[in-house]
Amino acid sequence: MNYEPSTTTLIPNLKSKISNRLPQHVAIIMDGNGRWAKKRGLPRIAGHRQGAEVIKEILRCCTDWGIKVLTVYAFSTENWGRPTAEVDFLMLLFERLLRTELEEMHREKVCIRFLGELEALPPSLQREMRRAMAVTAQNQAIYFNVAINYGGRKEIVRACRDLVEKVQQGELLPEAIDEGLIQQFLYTKEVADPDLLIRTSGQMRLSNFLLWQLAYTEIYFTDTLWSDFNREEFSRAIEDYQGRDRRFGKV
Ligand code: FPP
Repeated sequence: MNYEPSTTTLIPNLKSKISNRLPQHVAIIMDGNGRWAKKRGLPRIAGHRQGAEVIKEILRCCTDWGIKVLTVYAFSTENWGRPTAEVDFLMLLFERLLRTELEEMHREKVCIRFLGELEALPPSLQREMRRAMAVTAQNQAIYFNVAINYGGRKEIVRACRDLVEKVQQGELLPEAIDEGLIQQFLYTKEVADPDLLIRTSGQMRLSNFLLWQLAYTEIYFTDTLWSDFNREEFSRAIEDYQGRDRRFGKV
């Protein structure tokens, strides 16, 4: 991962400005790579390539600023419906990034995890994912969750099935099932729910992302395309979050 300080790293007081009431967990729907490429007369895959560069910058911001969990939506269960060439490119891009960036992420103490039905992914990608998870398992600077072949409804269905199985095997009483227990059967069981969700590119929907976990999350929409997103945009989202009054249904 290229952790060269960018020029924006030098913005004075950015860190102190945002250090107050920092979200601990930020989730991102990285939308707009295709439009970014189209605007430049480039193939869609060029937008994804640029989007990958942006993730590196945003992960760096999180470690710089002390955000403990970053969860990004890299590929949804619905994204298989894209042209084969684009899907194949994305799979190769994920695999290549894992190969080239793992060492640097490990050095930066990033703990990487993948959320989703990983069994359906190309075997060589699965191997890289398992390797990345194993190598970084003990790291604690930041938890970097990458949702790949992820669908929020499918995640809940999977949790229901696992719970029913436990009941059928006599390991669990139905009355013991509560919100806390369901949370333990989700991909995100090890981390608290997101404090802030960012969606780029002017689209205002959840697109089947973290449906359970986003119940009380603050949402920030921006027109900026993901491939144009950067440190300043990210700090604006954080500042906006810091101005929110989070009541969790209370007064
Ligand atoms: C959505 O934009 C973007 C995606 C479905 C892919 C996101 C993937 C990356 C940013 C590549 C790197 C990922 C990781 C985790 C290393 P879109 O294609 O739907 O854009 P559009 O709405 O403009 O068409």
